[in-house]
Amino acid sequence: MLSRRNFLTAAVGVAAAGGLAACAKEDEGSSGSDSSSGGGKKITLGFAQVGSESGWRTANTKSVKEAAKEAGYNLKFSDAQQKQENQISAIRSYIAQKVNVIAFSPVVVTGWDAVLKEAKTAKIPVILTDRSIETSDDSLYVSFIGSDFIDEGRRAAKMLEKVLEKAGHKGAVKIAQLEGTTGAAPAIERAKGFKEIMDAEHKDDWKVVVSQTGDFTRAGGKQVMAAFLQSNPDINVLYAHNDDMALGAIQSIEAAGKKPGKDILIVSVDGVKDGFVAMSEGKINGIVECNPLLGPQLMDLVKKVNDGETVERRIKTKEGDFLQEQAKEALPTRKY
Ligand code: AHR
Repeated sequence: MLSRRNFLTAAVGVAAAGGLAACAKEDEGSSGSDSSSGGGKKITLGFAQVGSESGWRTANTKSVKEAAKEAGYNLKFSDAQQKQENQISAIRSYIAQKVNVIAFSPVVVTGWDAVLKEAKTAKIPVILTDRSIETSDDSLYVSFIGSDFIDEGRRAAKMLEKVLEKAGHKGAVKIAQLEGTTGAAPAIERAKGFKEIMDAEHKDDWKVVVSQTGDFTRAGGKQVMAAFLQSNPDINVLYAHNDDMALGAIQSIEAAGKKPGKDILIVSVDGVKDGFVAMSEGKINGIVECNPLLGPQLMDLVKKVNDGETVERRIKTKEGDFLQEQAKEALPTRKY
């Protein structure tokens, strides 16, 4: 637990060796007034988004923008197009603009210490949303709000057990894995959680025969799955780290004359509407939910941090698991 006051006190001790880096990228999509400091004025929040790679991300961006508006904050928003250098530039620009709080969803886990030290020196608290980072200095951010990706990987493996049983599958389970963006927390941790269950409980019968990144995009999933089917035509399971890659892969499976959800059983992560549509059509067998609607919780957290309140260091989101029989019923009420 780290309050803003503690964070600011700690920040004083950091040498401002590099000073503030020059602003590398103009914000896009800023809203509200130009008010840039606290003290009774509107809170200004700088939010550096990963990109717009998936349906999940679109829903997450919408949730953040709507919740900031609802809370009456001045939101400065940038889309890094899945490039770490763009995100770093956006954070530097928020530091230069003296925003009250910075929140960001890191593209990858490593390489953040320098820019976060700059934020700390400028006494601007940082909140991680959705994805975590690797750092030896825990004082560089005050809180991390988002899903437990390792657990999502475990849940995907447990879901596959049910899917195989339901399909009456006998014999070897030859798994193709479509990984998320290389170096990103959800890609690393969803693979890790899945492997943990596989190694502990299915060492003899399950095997990941091929695994490659599809960068969390539909186009990536389609292209990589087409190559998988060429090199390993006997794949009978696909584990996709998100729905969009599964949806792209379905196109390649059908183009290869196979039936998704039958010839190749599919488990994916997210739970976006298009994923649920595919599941209600029998093309995806199970989805592990990852909730993108983090906006309202994030805005509460921003207020607390800005007011100097002590906040929880880690806030996990609550999520569910869905099999085909729940898809049709759940579809009309899906919020993203
Ligand atoms: O970080 C969350 C992941 O990022 C989502 O599962 C994926 O769809 C997105 O691109």
